[in-house]
Amino acid sequence: MIIPKGLICPICQGELTKIDNSLKCSLNHSYDFAKSGYVNLLNPGKKNNAKTGESREMIQARTAFFSSGHYEKIRAFLIDLIEPYKKDVIIDAGCGDCYYSEGVAEKYPESSVIGFDVSKHGTERGAKSAKAKGITNTFYAVSNIFNMPLIPESADIVINMFAPVSYEEFGRVLKKGGYLIIGASGAKHLYEMKGVLYDRVYLNELNVHKNEAFEVIGVKNLSYVTKICGSDTIMKLFTMTPYYHHTSDADKKKLEALEELTTTVEVDFTILRKI
Ligand SMILES: C[S@@+](CC[C@H](N)C(=O)[O-])C[C@H]1O[C@@H](n2cnc3c(N)ncnc32)[C@H](O)[C@@H]1O
Ligand SMILES: [Zn+2]
Repeated sequence: MIIPKGLICPICQGELTKIDNSLKCSLNHSYDFAKSGYVNLLNPGKKNNAKTGESREMIQARTAFFSSGHYEKIRAFLIDLIEPYKKDVIIDAGCGDCYYSEGVAEKYPESSVIGFDVSKHGTERGAKSAKAKGITNTFYAVSNIFNMPLIPESADIVINMFAPVSYEEFGRVLKKGGYLIIGASGAKHLYEMKGVLYDRVYLNELNVHKNEAFEVIGVKNLSYVTKICGSDTIMKLFTMTPYYHHTSDADKKKLEALEELTTTVEVDFTILRKI
């Protein structure tokens, strides 16, 4: 595990230092590392903080589905995309179960990779897995990515995969000339899966990612078709998508009945540079 430079206390914004198994500021606000190696840096005064995070069930589904390899091309694409850029400090904002941050950390051992997510189940999974694999260049904390516990201009790259975007906060923590990489669902992402679930299927609406604090360097599209075998793996994919929350039991059953699903995977990557 690394302790990133510029970590600040979520209550008083004072500098945090590691003392024994805790991070402490000069006012003695203290944040203990869990046994697995993550730390909770949510402001304890803000009670609603943790409500938006992914549940244990969703994080477990994510980890199980990733282990089937169907999203490996997305991770490899992301790893290649950041290759040309300076990457001493990389933040994965909304890191989920830490699949992408872990891959980035393994590929770039000289980088310090910080994963923030409001779900403690996700950061716990990431910290545990890093320990088990002997990955030493990661730091995982429960945190709100709209208010990260870091001083301004701490990072060279912010990665944001399928997670909420805050240009203001990402711009604050990025160094001038640093890069923001946003990975979001492309128009046909999981189109065939939606076709099984719903009578009418629409293409995904695309967000244009732009902001006055950033220059858009480019948009890159990754699209491929994958065949998912086994009802269990299909349902793991379903459980990690937003459709999990918005689908009737009757529609879920249609997907559950399948033993094989061939579906499009499509991700649009937007690369922005902080001006
Ligand atoms: C769709 S998941 C994507 C996770 C991961 N990036 C991936 O692609 O596997 C979105 C993630 O954003 C996290 N999230 C949502 N709002 C957040 C916030 N305000 N601060 C931190 N994390 C947040 C959720 O807990 C969830 O893990
Ligand atoms: Zn403090």
